[in-house]
Amino acid sequence: MSRYLFAILGCLSLALGTTFGLPWSRGKHQPNSTLFTASSGGDEQVQLQSWVTAYWPDGSIKWTGHAISASDIVPDGYKIIASNQGAINESHSYPFIREARRQAESGVLVNDQDDKIVVNTGKLTVSFPKSGSVLVGMIQTSSGKTVGENGTLILRSQTGAADDGADSNQKPIQSLNFESDIEDVKAENSGPVRTLVTVRGKHRTTQAAASNHPEWLPFILRFYLYADSEAIRVVHTLVYDGEPDKDFISGIGIRLQVPLEGEELYNRHVRLAGVDGGVLSEAVKGITGLRRDPGEEVRKAQFEGSELPDPETWDTRVTSRLHWIPSWNDYNLAQLSPDGFTLRKRTKAGQSWVKIPGGTRAGGLAYLGGATRGGLAVGLRDFWKRYPTALDITNAASSSGEITLWLYSPSAPPMDLRPFHDGLGQDTYEDQLDALEITYEDWEGGYNTPYGIARTNEIFLFGFDETPPTETLSTLTGYLNEPPMLAADPQYLLQTNATGTYWATPSSTTGAAQTIEEHLDFLFSFYENQVSQRKWYGFWDHGDIMHTYDEDRHAWRYDIGGYAWDNSELSPDLFFWNYFMRTGRADVYRFAEHLTRHTGEVDVYHTGPFKGLGTRHGVQHWGDSAKQIRISTPIYRRYFYYLSGGDERVGELIDEVLDAEKAFLVVDPRRKVRQDNGTYVPDPTALQIDLGLDWSGLAAAWLTEYERHGPRWEEAKTKLFETMRSIANLTNGFVTGQALYNLHTGEISPPSTDAQNLGHVEVSHLSASFGLQEVIVQIMDHVGGDMPAGFEDAYLDYCYYYGATAAEQEARYGESFGRLSLKQGHSRLTAYVAHRLQNSTTAARAWKEFFELGTDGLLPDAPWATVSLTGSQVLAPVDEAAWLSTNAAALYGIAGIENLALIGNTLE
Ligand SMILES: *[C@@H]1O[C@H](CO)[C@@H](O)[C@H](O)[C@H]1NC(C)=O
Ligand SMILES: *[C@@H]1O[C@H](CO)[C@@H](O)[C@H](O)[C@H]1NC(C)=O
Ligand SMILES: *[C@@H]1O[C@H](CO)[C@@H](O)[C@H](O)[C@H]1NC(C)=O
Ligand SMILES: *[C@@H]1O[C@H](CO)[C@@H](O)[C@H](O)[C@H]1NC(C)=O
Ligand SMILES: *[C@@H]1O[C@H](CO)[C@@H](O)[C@H](O)[C@H]1NC(C)=O
Ligand SMILES: *[C@@H]1O[C@H](CO)[C@@H](O)[C@H](O)[C@H]1NC(C)=O
Ligand SMILES: *[C@@H]1O[C@H](CO)[C@@H](O)[C@H](O)[C@H]1NC(C)=O
Repeated sequence: MSRYLFAILGCLSLALGTTFGLPWSRGKHQPNSTLFTASSGGDEQVQLQSWVTAYWPDGSIKWTGHAISASDIVPDGYKIIASNQGAINESHSYPFIREARRQAESGVLVNDQDDKIVVNTGKLTVSFPKSGSVLVGMIQTSSGKTVGENGTLILRSQTGAADDGADSNQKPIQSLNFESDIEDVKAENSGPVRTLVTVRGKHRTTQAAASNHPEWLPFILRFYLYADSEAIRVVHTLVYDGEPDKDFISGIGIRLQVPLEGEELYNRHVRLAGVDGGVLSEAVKGITGLRRDPGEEVRKAQFEGSELPDPETWDTRVTSRLHWIPSWNDYNLAQLSPDGFTLRKRTKAGQSWVKIPGGTRAGGLAYLGGATRGGLAVGLRDFWKRYPTALDITNAASSSGEITLWLYSPSAPPMDLRPFHDGLGQDTYEDQLDALEITYEDWEGGYNTPYGIARTNEIFLFGFDETPPTETLSTLTGYLNEPPMLAADPQYLLQTNATGTYWATPSSTTGAAQTIEEHLDFLFSFYENQVSQRKWYGFWDHGDIMHTYDEDRHAWRYDIGGYAWDNSELSPDLFFWNYFMRTGRADVYRFAEHLTRHTGEVDVYHTGPFKGLGTRHGVQHWGDSAKQIRISTPIYRRYFYYLSGGDERVGELIDEVLDAEKAFLVVDPRRKVRQDNGTYVPDPTALQIDLGLDWSGLAAAWLTEYERHGPRWEEAKTKLFETMRSIANLTNGFVTGQALYNLHTGEISPPSTDAQNLGHVEVSHLSASFGLQEVIVQIMDHVGGDMPAGFEDAYLDYCYYYGATAAEQEARYGESFGRLSLKQGHSRLTAYVAHRLQNSTTAARAWKEFFELGTDGLLPDAPWATVSLTGSQVLAPVDEAAWLSTNAAALYGIAGIENLALIGNTLE
């Protein structure tokens, strides 16, 4: 029996149901004979649903996902117990794992009918039609009140951009309206605690006559419902498949209707979350502030959202004149910048809007309902960070009100996804390579395309039997912005060997180690602050960070080619996730989560010819012509995927990378720089791949599919092992640099320049900068002693010789590697070989590389401090660290963490 304690990251005041992941040591627990149970701090049994998300090669459990239901009492943590049961009766098991079902009376009921799926959580009953435009048919509370109906996606677009100038040839701009068209609805992962309803479809025009626009913008909506919960978490994914010069998205929304029939107008309530827990509380027909007073009790009840006393009891000077009081039908809150929102309301269409004082950063929640009929709240996580967003309440004075959450506000200028420049005449590769010399942008016509990128948002729906107190809505606003996350203690994560054996918990053994700890903390805090100071927010941008700083302008180089958005360059994702693993800090988790939600979606293609590849850093996330697997590599997603209990969207992103090898047939990553560009044609049996950049991404996808036992796991395992075997057989192993890959068999053969396998030498500073070491160590942690012969040696050689002297390189390979940069980042490779061979001379070399060598690293005498800038030299006050680039920060972070773990004992 094993017991593990969990801490809660995030909102402590509410438990509305959550899912989390947990790793297990090899050989400890068998899928068919393990009973998982949970208890809260006070040893109260808690309902738990469990499933396996990954297996060790011996078939034992490597990672599990678990869900716990909503509860009134929120403990400080939970204890998860895995007990080995021996042979068990399988007939009650949920995918291979037996559940403890203490509270059989509660639980989630799923009724899968021909035309809809109906889910009952005990608190809410929700129906999901299987066709048409309505995704959420009905939301009913346990007392039988229907509080939401007819939930649809709405989309607006236009055929041109109004600010393109007065070109007389321009066709008039047409506005188009679309709505959801459901293709597939499934209930998945249903058990006693949670069920997931996944709805897939596209957006279809609603104006048959006006437009022949084809269906577009595929969506995937995942509704997570938990036992005893009045909350529904919705993960909303949209894939862009439009034509940027014809399709200008002007609004992306989800709308639900709220039945209000029979509710007196003075008993109907509107609530909009404001700043820092604030809430706007209004009634559709207000009876406060009038010239005549209906009575204090009446006023108080209305403000608090309670049913008003019988009008017979009010001052008749009010009741006789109620029909003169205007009703407010429509409300609009628009967050068009991360710094401010506007608010307004009107009595009806055709009448003027009345301004309501707005604020800075809105919480992102709207409620509409009645004191007796109940109501619905809809909220968007990171509402202001994902501007331009909006919340509309409409028809509140009619029998059917509506709440519309805009993920992209129709009040904002339409989304413009066209390239930001016209190519500047870069017609040939020569021009493009020359332009790269100045702006660092790797441009090529046709490659600057958003076709296939995606965005995922998290939405929450809450149903109420009556208008809730404003504190409740305020708490829910906090909850939806920081939904609680359960995480195991770092020591536990580490000892399972399931999360990479190249990090350790923070040490304070020596002064130098302590300084590295301080520097890691400095780097994390700096980026966290830069996000807010530099406003790295917005529909497409939130979650990303920037690449390089412009010290003259005191700004990040947001407008300069390859120096702008970072797109995971040199693996900041690995730094931040490993920093979370070792510290267990909630703020680090949130930061890394936002980064993963961005880099996995926006920087990567999910459909079209580049599917499975990502885009190199640039001014637009999709702008650069380098489409590579180094950006889409699943090594960046695995942490969040497993820690979240197998987030289904991120799992799907990992699946997509299995097909990235096919994209190599369409786009040759080296097309502009290859010697044999006249003759090289991508051939599925001899694809030229980089043994670091490309293989590590493919290997991360294969490893994940293999350990998840996904539908292609046998193919994945075969390719993983075959590539490792054949890399080991290359005379120079990883030092070969590039080789030919057969995507049918997985075999890697020598490059065409060395068909005899005599030993080619080609080493690049980039090969190991996108997770190569982390992928290899995780593979070795996974397969244990069963590695193909010679593979680890091939990697250890690469690790040793990258930073070795030219003489050593010549002695080993017959030639030196030439001038190589990124010595600090590569010190983690030296540390790895030192650790594996237990060689203190090599360990000392690694520390020297970390502390002393290379002009591109962050050395001990760097300032390690920011400078505050105010006044007219900057747009707004900022803290700057002009000495810091994100490449350097990412590599310092990973190398610092890994060196401390691998050779920390040799640090003086
Ligand atoms: C668990 O047992 C079932 C039935 O005996 C078997 O089909 C399944 O493969 C087993 N699962 C694992 C992961 O061993
Ligand atoms: C397993 O449980 C089911 C349902 O309770 C029962 O019908 C069956 O006989 C049991 N099988 C064994 C081998 O005990
Ligand atoms: C939902 O749609 C149905 C069918 O169009 C309609 O009868 C019903 O009134 C709608 N509900 C609300 C609250 O508007
Ligand atoms: C973890 O891996 C190390 C080798 O890297 C090994 O010595 C240790 O036994 C492993 N621990 C577990 C629990 O498997
Ligand atoms: C090959 O590369 C050279 C040098 O970059 C360039 O001038 C030439 O146009 C390229 N040829 C082809 C067929 O792309
Ligand atoms: C290994 O490489 C040698 C050439 O060095 C080649 O002859 C042989 O076929 C390769 N073996 C395998 C199993 O790939
Ligand atoms: C450690 O590595 C150095 C440098 O390669 C080598 O000279 C030395 O023999 C190694 N020491 C041991 C004990 O293997």
